[in-house]
Amino acid sequence: MATTTATTVLYCSDPLNERRADAHFAAEARQLRAAGGRVALVDHDALLAGDAERAVARVPEGAGAVWYRGWMVPADRYAELDAALRRRGGALAVTPQAYRRAHELPGWYETFAGLTPVSGWLPAAPEAVPDPEGLAALAAGLPPGAAVVKDYVKSRKHEWAEACYVPDLTDPASLHRVVARFVELQGEFLAGGVVLRAFEHFVAPGAAAAEVRVWWRDGTPRLVTAHPDSPVAAVTEPDLEPVRAAVEALDCPFVTTDLALRADGVWRVVEVGDGQVSDLHREADRAAFVRLLTADQALLCTPSPSGTTPA
Ligand SMILES: Nc1ncnc2c1ncn2[C@@H]1O[C@H](COP(=O)(O)OP(=O)(O)OP(=O)(O)O)[C@@H](O)[C@H]1O
Ligand SMILES: [Mg+2]
Repeated sequence: MATTTATTVLYCSDPLNERRADAHFAAEARQLRAAGGRVALVDHDALLAGDAERAVARVPEGAGAVWYRGWMVPADRYAELDAALRRRGGALAVTPQAYRRAHELPGWYETFAGLTPVSGWLPAAPEAVPDPEGLAALAAGLPPGAAVVKDYVKSRKHEWAEACYVPDLTDPASLHRVVARFVELQGEFLAGGVVLRAFEHFVAPGAAAAEVRVWWRDGTPRLVTAHPDSPVAAVTEPDLEPVRAAVEALDCPFVTTDLALRADGVWRVVEVGDGQVSDLHREADRAAFVRLLTADQALLCTPSPSGTTPA
């Protein structure tokens, strides 16, 4: 149902002052207010601790469909956030199912096959290292050569040599060593399981950012920024036509795709993410960014009465 009310965005509150947005999101929240949007606050610590009721205690009753913008949330906790909001007349504009699809690699991988490095995964609980036989079978499904290890959501790219990069998939001892170190470092935060991805050689396009983040609303690319880790804000705009069909097929209202230029000149999708938990480059145009959230209110769903959403 169309609505004329202002866009509401839930930002993470400052752990030291629950009445303010976390400093990391404060400038964006100010920009949203300047654009006529409404800011509400959620307690990310409480949400991750399993207390969704407390997490939403400061969200006004009857908020309707809202966006979330903040730190990453595991998919099951996101569903709890949605359920808690529904009990007070709100709902997340991105359903828990759509969030999981965009946030976790197994949710988006098939849709982006051909555009992204060949990947395989094994479900694994935190602290549980897959056995060498299982890893060898997983590796056998990838092309021979090097690989990258991550979980369903994140890598340990800053511990590249010890916990991310596997130089040779046919060496079971080093594969197991890198995966075991990855699982150890992820600790309780290991998301879903272990992913192996065929290594591809990426190059920086001149002086521009080595990886670009494309922000899509309802299947349309609306903003292209540098990846938040990039020291430079300048971007080379990739040809997005090959990616557009995959984003449309994923059918999520707000997603990001991170693209890198392969040495042979082909732009590749390194990663897909839910736009609500994708970090914005510090030099990105925040006014343009908040317009992605305030536009197309009519497309946001009206919440159903309460607590009936499947997880
Ligand atoms: N298959 C691959 N081939 C080559 N390099 C890769 C591959 N996968 C990842 N990388 C490199 O490792 C980095 C981290 O990978 P990825 O983006 O999947 O993990 P992440 O931890 O989720 O990162 P982010 O900070 O974007 O959330 C990428 O930016 C890229 O430079
Ligand atoms: Mg990434």
